[in-house]
Amino acid sequence: MATANSHMSLLLLLALVALTPSTSAASLNLDLDLHLLLQLQGFPPGLIPEPVEDYDISIASILPPTFSFTVYFKEPCYVTYVYPNYFAPVFTGKITLGKISGMRGHKDKLPSTGVWTDMYGVTMVGTKLVFKFATETIAYDRALFEEVKNCTYGPLIPDQSNELVSQLPISAE
Ligand SMILES: *[C@@H]1O[C@H](CO)[C@@H](O)[C@H](O)[C@H]1NC(C)=O
Repeated sequence: MATANSHMSLLLLLALVALTPSTSAASLNLDLDLHLLLQLQGFPPGLIPEPVEDYDISIASILPPTFSFTVYFKEPCYVTYVYPNYFAPVFTGKITLGKISGMRGHKDKLPSTGVWTDMYGVTMVGTKLVFKFATETIAYDRALFEEVKNCTYGPLIPDQSNELVSQLPISAE
């Protein structure tokens, strides 16, 4: 059944790509529902909570069908699945069949450290979702993420990534 679904998903995506006027693929915005996109790529819809303020989906590559997504929340958005999750007001990444990568703007408060830690990607392995964090990799059953939950707004967590830190002005004294 999973295989049939995967083939269906691929066919739908190919049809979608074929029907879309071929301008520059990178600048193409698709009117595709976010939770449906997750499901078409084999993921449970609840991986991204509501309320989503706005989002952009564009084609990153055609084979395999890969989409870039940017999700906008009105405010920093907190939701608990297994442990607390945080979505920044701008959350981005790429999604292809069974794999979400290059994520920015999502952190989990890991039970091992109690520290808000960046999540970089999610890979589907059978009925498990394997979450790749900056410091460790953790697998959970996908059933935990089927329900689309509502988040609650909370404070912004500063981005600690090296890229941003290196942009801070250096004070000369
Ligand atoms: C999320 O909020 C909406 C609107 O308030 C509500 O209709 C819906 O039932 C809520 N969903 C969950 C899973 O609590």
